[in-house]
Amino acid sequence: QKADLQTLRQAPFPIGAAVVPSTLKSNANYRNIVTTEMSSISGENAMKMNSISRGRKSYFWDDADYLVNFAAENKLRVHGHTLIWYKHTPTWVASFSGTKDDWKTILKEYIQDVVGRYKGKVASWDVVNEIINDDGSLRDCIWLQKIGPEYIELSFRYAHEADPAALLFYNDYGQEWSHARRKAAYHLADSLVKNNVPIHGLGLQMHTNVARSVNDIRYAITAAAVTGLKVHVSELDVAVNPDKKLTAFNETVAQQQKERYRAAAKAMLDIPENQRFGITMWGVHDPSSWLSPNPDWALPFNNLFEKKPAYDGLLEGLYQG
Ligand code: G3I
Repeated sequence: QKADLQTLRQAPFPIGAAVVPSTLKSNANYRNIVTTEMSSISGENAMKMNSISRGRKSYFWDDADYLVNFAAENKLRVHGHTLIWYKHTPTWVASFSGTKDDWKTILKEYIQDVVGRYKGKVASWDVVNEIINDDGSLRDCIWLQKIGPEYIELSFRYAHEADPAALLFYNDYGQEWSHARRKAAYHLADSLVKNNVPIHGLGLQMHTNVARSVNDIRYAITAAAVTGLKVHVSELDVAVNPDKKLTAFNETVAQQQKERYRAAAKAMLDIPENQRFGITMWGVHDPSSWLSPNPDWALPFNNLFEKKPAYDGLLEGLYQG
C-alpha cells in the first residue's frame, strides 16, 4: 500500500495540531508546517479557563483571539480546548462563595462569554475535559462539588445556547488502554444523548506510546464510533521512550511509531464518514511536544522540522485505494 496523498491537508478529514501563539509568531518553520500541512488547530493552552479568565467577567483574550485570527487568515478550522477542566480552575473561582444557583450562574457566564465571543469562528469545543476517573467514576472537581453531576449537562446546554452551530465534545484520555474508562465514557455519552443534551462528539486524547499495542488504537476509535457521535482523536502523540532508556531516536522505534500513527489514521478512515471529526496531534514537531524536554520524539516532525516515518504512516493510513 502506498500513499496517494502528498500532504496531510489533502486528507479526507481534518488533520490538525495543538499550537502555541508565541511559537506561531516567532518560528517560521513551525508556522509553515501548520499552514501547509494542517487543516485544523487547537490551542494547546490558550483557550483554557485559567488562560482566559482573570476574574468574574474579566478576561484575557489576546492569545485566543490570535489563534482565531490566524486560523481565519490561513483557512484553518479552530477546535476550542477546553471550557471546563478540573485542572484549570482560576483562583477567583476556587475562592468563590455562593449558593448552588450562584455557581450555575458563574459557570454559564464564563461558558457563554467565551463561546459567544467566538460564535461562528470556533467550530467546536471540548466542553468538559477529563471528567472520569481511572475506575470509571466521576472525577472530583469544584463544579461537581458545588453544582453536582448536573454541571456536565449544564455546560453543554450553556455552550449550545451561545453557539447552536458549534459541535460540542466530551474529551478524555485512556480509552485505548482502559476498559473501565472506555465503558464509563461511552455510558456517559449515551446518557447525555438520551437526555437530549447537545453533545455531538467524543474526544479521544490518545497520548500513547510504542509499548502499547497498535490494535488498542484501532479498537478505541472503532468503539467510540459505535456511540453514533463524531470521533475526534484530539491529542495524538506516540512517545517512543516510555521507559526513558533511549538516548537517541532510532529506526526500530521510528517504525513502531509509524505503525501507530498509521493505525490511527486508518481507523478514522474506516468509521462512517459523517463521524470523522478529525485527528489533532498534540504539538507540531518533537521539541514542541508537552513531553519535551524528556526525549520522547512523539510527533511526526523532528527538531529540524523534517518529516519522520510517522508522517508517512499518517499518509499511508489515509490511503484511499
Ligand atoms: O506560560 C507559563 C510561564 O509563564 C511560566 O513561567 C511557567 C512556569 O511553570 O509555566 C508556563 O505555563 C505552563 C504551560 O504549560 C505553558 O508552557 C504551565 O505551567 C503548564 O502546566 C502547562 O502545561 C500544559 C498542561 O496541559 C497543563 O495545562 C501543557 O503545555 C499542555 O500540553 C497540557 O495539555 C493537556 C491537555 O490540555 C489535556 N490533556 C492532557 C494534555 C497533556 O498534559
